[in-house]
Amino acid sequence: MSGGFSLSDALPAGNNPNPSAPPPQGWPSWGNQPPPPGGFPGHYGPPGPYPGAPGAPGPYPGGPGHYPGGPGAPGAFPGAPPGPGPYPAPGHPPSGPGFGPPPPHGGPAPPLKVPFELPLQSGLVPRLLITITGTVNPKPNRFSLDFKKGNDVAFHFNPRFNEDHRRVIVCNSMFHNNWGKEERSAPRFPFEPGKPFKLQVLCEADHFKVAVDDAHLLQYGFREKRLQEITKLCISGDITLTSVQPSMI
Ligand code: GAL
Repeated sequence: MSGGFSLSDALPAGNNPNPSAPPPQGWPSWGNQPPPPGGFPGHYGPPGPYPGAPGAPGPYPGGPGHYPGGPGAPGAFPGAPPGPGPYPAPGHPPSGPGFGPPPPHGGPAPPLKVPFELPLQSGLVPRLLITITGTVNPKPNRFSLDFKKGNDVAFHFNPRFNEDHRRVIVCNSMFHNNWGKEERSAPRFPFEPGKPFKLQVLCEADHFKVAVDDAHLLQYGFREKRLQEITKLCISGDITLTSVQPSMI
């Protein structure tokens, strides 16, 4: 994880004329992110489906198009690298698994059950973006995302609201039931009791990037490099979960 800059440090030099507008490409284009290879900071292609989608279970049809922060207009970012190549795999449906809001005519979506488990059938892959929306519970203690390889946790992202009266984000990995060295250098704590949030995790070539409400927060270098074996995302703790949507950018 790195990041000695806050969003306000980054803004004056940033290239986004309207920081309050959600980025159309699905990933924040500002903040303290190192530019991706290809030279177009923060911009990839428009989001696409995640490969190997299992059928969406029961009452959570979800799917691309239903989430308001979803895919932007193709072609909006000239110079972006071409699409992610082999995905979706031949024979796979064009839509990825999505969990969350039904189409507008379907009425209000029930919250997803927490703890929530998102199977990632093809494992992680660079440019996989997972967008999670929810609301922090009124008197939260903590919540976590855990990207898992079997029982191991490749990436634990854990906002704590009251650790000795402080708020802190703890990131770590667990191998063979042992937690490693914690990374606690997030430059800010963007979650508030009772408030909605959009949390995005982007899998890059050698690290995860995390953004909250369209602003880059932190990154976490891979400790587990066998990405295709990281096949589960577990979400637990003191939040109400609205949607969980994987896509390729
Ligand atoms: C432990 C905690 C775990 C996990 C871990 C991260 O103290 O019990 O749930 O958050 O820290 O290092």
